[in-house]
Amino acid sequence: MVHPIPRLPVFDWQTFSGSKLSATPCLLAHPKSHFTNSGRASILLAMEMIGVGPGDEVLVPTYHCPTMVAPIVALGAQPVFYPVDDDGAPGLAWLDQVDVSRVRAILVAHFFGLPQPLALVRRWCDQNRVRLIEDCAHALFGASDGKAIGTWGDLAIGSLTKFLPVPEGGCLANNLMPGALQTLQRPSKIGQIKAGFDVVHAGVNHGRLRGLGYMVRMLYGLLAKFKRSSAVTTAPMNPSVAEGFTIDTVQAHRALTYPSAWIAEHASRDRIVSCRRENYKFFVEALTGVPGLRPLHPSLPNDCAPYVFPLWVDQPDPGYAELRRLDFPVSRWDRLWPSVPSIVADIGVQWSRHILQLACHQDLKRAELQQMVDVLKRVYAPGHVSQ
Ligand SMILES: Cc1ncc(COP(=O)(O)O)c(C=O)c1O
Repeated sequence: MVHPIPRLPVFDWQTFSGSKLSATPCLLAHPKSHFTNSGRASILLAMEMIGVGPGDEVLVPTYHCPTMVAPIVALGAQPVFYPVDDDGAPGLAWLDQVDVSRVRAILVAHFFGLPQPLALVRRWCDQNRVRLIEDCAHALFGASDGKAIGTWGDLAIGSLTKFLPVPEGGCLANNLMPGALQTLQRPSKIGQIKAGFDVVHAGVNHGRLRGLGYMVRMLYGLLAKFKRSSAVTTAPMNPSVAEGFTIDTVQAHRALTYPSAWIAEHASRDRIVSCRRENYKFFVEALTGVPGLRPLHPSLPNDCAPYVFPLWVDQPDPGYAELRRLDFPVSRWDRLWPSVPSIVADIGVQWSRHILQLACHQDLKRAELQQMVDVLKRVYAPGHVSQ
């Protein structure tokens, strides 16, 4: 049986092997970090804590995933896009020109899991009385400017599915705001059970958890039959919710399920950091010097665990569509929010076309990494015709 290469971490026997602690700081170890339902839910909750509402503006990078913007719009506020420089940092010269009278907050992300120096941004926020939301969705681990990630923002958010073999989850760390996070609604019992099954099923589906595969597939077959015979109809998901352009605000106020929280607390963090760093370095070596391709950041900073490997591709299309058809574990932020302007000295819009984000998570095997390199070299070879 051929299994697809997993796009995100998957549960396997190794998930808990190795030290739970990592030398690299982890957002989950932040003393005021709380589990939430997702990264986008954390952004929504952070905005609510700040009191963002209609008439307010929130600064967001031109390079983004729509899930970063949807919570702002859901609260009736307006996203204002700021330019990103070649290192992924906010364009401070541009920010200095902005009328901040209606700006309540700025969202700054550690893109790809490579920590951004934030001392200057922090100073700009203090001088302009703008709240800093540190987006650590790509950086559950790391330090920047000598401090742990997640300690620069007034609030910091994380996304668990990108680093842990869980079907949902986020976290919200609170540095300055008085008061605690509001109480989140408990997930249903069915939701708790489903989360546990989803964890195991994802592992089996990708050829992991050897020895359990037959049993889990049989159980799933039975459950599917039961579901069909009990004719439970579920409302079709709103496609715009699925694409991340809107946010399910009810779901966003639900607490994390117990199985996901347990895995987040017990998985080996040391293994996550070391395997991701090794995989990143493998891609640097394998893809440096390949015509038309360029590792965006060939040198990996010490204190971090990359989320993905950012690869600049000179002529990304139509190869990218072929990669997606092949179920290749890659993503690209090519669906920008409709009102993104063109700003001089901004690299964000170019990145949204040219940067491919390659999976480099801890559960990829060496043979899968090599297979990814071979496919990339084939799809982007001069003269290759995409089918
Ligand atoms: C930088 C960034 N922030 C926030 C999010 C939202 O995280 P989640 O998918 O857990 O809702 C994402 C999702 O891709 C992201 O890339």
